[in-house]
Amino acid sequence: MTTIIYSFTGTGNTLAVARQLADALGDTTIIPITRAMKAGPLPPEAETADAIGIAFPIYYVDMPLIVQDFVRELQLNGNPYIFGIATCGERPGGALYNLNALLKEKGTHLSLGAALIMPENYVGPMDLMEPVEKVEGILSTARDRIPEIAELIRGRREIPLEGSDSTPYRIVASFFRFLATSVYGTTRRLHATDRCNRCGICTRICPTENITVTDSAVTWGRNCTQCYACIHWCPQAAVEIGGRTRGKRRYHHPDVTVADMVEQSGG
Ligand SMILES: Cc1cc2nc3c(=O)[nH]c(=O)nc-3n(C[C@H](O)[C@H](O)[C@H](O)COP(=O)(O)O)c2cc1C
Ligand code: SF4
Ligand code: SF4
Repeated sequence: MTTIIYSFTGTGNTLAVARQLADALGDTTIIPITRAMKAGPLPPEAETADAIGIAFPIYYVDMPLIVQDFVRELQLNGNPYIFGIATCGERPGGALYNLNALLKEKGTHLSLGAALIMPENYVGPMDLMEPVEKVEGILSTARDRIPEIAELIRGRREIPLEGSDSTPYRIVASFFRFLATSVYGTTRRLHATDRCNRCGICTRICPTENITVTDSAVTWGRNCTQCYACIHWCPQAAVEIGGRTRGKRRYHHPDVTVADMVEQSGG
């Protein structure tokens, strides 16, 4: 069975899970969603895959907007088995149900939707990140689920989606996104402190080409998808959202590197 996993990641959790799943499945290619969107035509294996996976982090109990856009544009050939892999800090909400709804608009559906709890990367205005000593335990629990998920995919099983399809989740999702984006102004408040040495990593890993680094300044545009990559990957911890992130711990998955992130973004 040939499998393609389209993957989006900000701090590496989803990429690490996609890699573990690819290893467990065999004959699997991971295609970064950001690259697929930039590159236009997909590689030949995407035309003929028996199974297609869509892997993404949960933002505001929903899918990232960039992943929603990708799925809307996705051309599906034949009748592949489709599965979704969401990684989240605690609550996947209705994201996998929303993915299923987008696929239904294309005349297909999500056969399996798994939500894996991974280390939380949301910091400021609220700091939801767990203490550092809990990270390895969370990673190991998630890793233990991979063989079972791979077996279900290999068997092309139809499994109830994880998370919740309830209306309150849909309302809460829009409300949280609105609060963080428009009221708190996460995307407007991103800035670099004087710890910044203009290394340029943030601009190379940003999936939306939203960051410009010059000799004298780093500036953020208006096309932020709130992946938090610039905040967590800056080697100087110089990227802040307003003042609430100051002094707080940064995170990225231990098996994922800056080079991997550059590869993801096509930067
Ligand atoms: C903007 C934003 C919103 C988030 N919202 C949620 C959420 O609603 N529920 C949840 O469980 N985790 C939430 N998280 C945490 C991430 O989903 C989680 O840490 C994920 O594994 C990160 O994956 P990545 O490393 O592939 O980017 C949020 C993270 C960010 C940056
Ligand atoms: S990654 Fe950090 S140090 Fe490097 S240019 Fe961006 S803000 Fe500055
Ligand atoms: S500006 Fe930062 S948080 Fe926004 S999309 Fe780019 S890397 Fe992600």
